[in-house]
Amino acid sequence: MSQAWWKKSVVYQIYPRSFRDSNGDGIGDLKGITSKLDYVKELGADVIWLSPIYQSPNDDNGYDISDYRAIMKEFGTIEDFDQLLAEAHRRGLKIVMDLVVNHTSDEHPWFVESRSSRDNPKRDYYIWREPRDGKEPNNWGNCFSGSAWEYDPQTEMYYLHCFSKKQPDLNWENPQVRQEVFDLMTWWCEKGIDGFRMDVISMISKKPGLPDTDPQGAKYGSCLPGTCHGPHVHEYLQEMNRKVLSRYDLMTVGETAAVTVEEAKKYANAQGTELNMVFQFEHNDLDTRGGLVGKWCLDRMDLVKLKEILSRWQTELDGKAWNSLYFCNHDQPRIVSRLGDDSPKYRERSAKCIATCVHMMQGTPYVYQGEELGMTNAPFASLSDYRDIDSIRGYHDMVDSGILPPEEMLTYMAFKSRDNARTPMQWDDSPNAGFTTGTPWIMVNPNYKEINAREQMARPDSVFHYYKTLISLRRNSPLSDLLMNGHYTLLLPQDPELFVYQREYEGQKLLVACNLSGSTRKLEGLPQENWELVLTNAPVEKDTLLPWQACVFKNF
Ligand code: NOJ
Repeated sequence: MSQAWWKKSVVYQIYPRSFRDSNGDGIGDLKGITSKLDYVKELGADVIWLSPIYQSPNDDNGYDISDYRAIMKEFGTIEDFDQLLAEAHRRGLKIVMDLVVNHTSDEHPWFVESRSSRDNPKRDYYIWREPRDGKEPNNWGNCFSGSAWEYDPQTEMYYLHCFSKKQPDLNWENPQVRQEVFDLMTWWCEKGIDGFRMDVISMISKKPGLPDTDPQGAKYGSCLPGTCHGPHVHEYLQEMNRKVLSRYDLMTVGETAAVTVEEAKKYANAQGTELNMVFQFEHNDLDTRGGLVGKWCLDRMDLVKLKEILSRWQTELDGKAWNSLYFCNHDQPRIVSRLGDDSPKYRERSAKCIATCVHMMQGTPYVYQGEELGMTNAPFASLSDYRDIDSIRGYHDMVDSGILPPEEMLTYMAFKSRDNARTPMQWDDSPNAGFTTGTPWIMVNPNYKEINAREQMARPDSVFHYYKTLISLRRNSPLSDLLMNGHYTLLLPQDPELFVYQREYEGQKLLVACNLSGSTRKLEGLPQENWELVLTNAPVEKDTLLPWQACVFKNF
């Protein structure tokens, strides 16, 4: 495991719907991705994680799959996929697929059969329960809004759906279900893919008896306490590992809602019996309130807490498991608007500062499309601008019930909606940012004339080139071993603006100092005389960090 290729990798996540449209229908597609592989190669990432590309009715943009062995018609054909894979491999790029198997679409043939009668052979593929006092079997809410149960009049029972009612949860307790999943995984592995990102994989084993959870003042309680890290989750993943994963040379990352460091040590254990690494949420949840309003607020992350969390993951997993390093993906707003400063003055510098902080840690970094350009949140103004089920449901939840006035909710959505990450990739300053010649399925961020790949690739001090440098330091430089293996120590833990840490490996030391604030700060006592500056994003002034300046020093 210590030599595993994915420990030295940098992953580039593509959200196919918004990456590049090749046929003018306004929706990104596989041919569009193939046409941009050279871009990913130029950036220096070596693994591409594709958000789901399978056949889907798109209730949740492909996270609701109706056929695991077919391609979504808007995205192309299986031949297009084969070509994408071959072209990626030809360039030395690996392809990691999104595996969404906590649930299927309600239009998947398994569910169509399952719901058809109480005694259908596939009935037990899903989680069906009798009503309790004429109502839902328990008080769980789904992750978008409303109950986690849907009543099906045909058989007069409820089925469980932790996401939308078009995403019924599979019953992993049924060995046939597990075998179906292992078979479809094997089918993709035989095609030659290089790994899986596993959607909400911590939710596949439910708490026995499906007990009520604390509703915290809301009508429904969160389903997470009853669905995450259930008693069989590690057993199921070990079975998956034995039957599929261990037979191929793969990279695996589990999306593990509600994961703690202790659980992560099991999921991503260094013996390799389950997954290679997990996505944790503690840091990204810092600006979420929970309770009734959930993430719908303008709270900012508290830097002291952020440092505590990321540092704990660094030190606790060291030598025992492996970290994923990320802030951005298709479920998170743009980090430069969320934690940085997206004003013209500091957008680029703060994007680079945050990137430095993440990329110099131990683990595998993930770059989400457009992050490498410092793409920002979008100026969404009305409900009709949104496409995301979570945002639209959230609006109705908060506004229709009178919890929040409409204008206030729209302010929160503009800050936190997942659609902020889903506006089209900004390729150049031609119409629609060069994403499509048609009408884009979601608005293009109007700032594409200033923020786009073509402009940044031509300008050596751009965010794009900075990411390129960060990636090449990890992939191929005298610092590579240190970045991969170095032990981590947090310095100045109580400082509310500076994120400073040290990495150390076989006598080599690296000091990473990031000023995550708009004020100029003195770097007292740091660094010492014999430290050499490796990288910075702003003019150097002795013992000083300018606003949003990051400096990386080495000592060997
Ligand atoms: C997590 C995915 O990242 C998100 O986009 C999706 O809505 C849910 N899982 C349900 O699949």
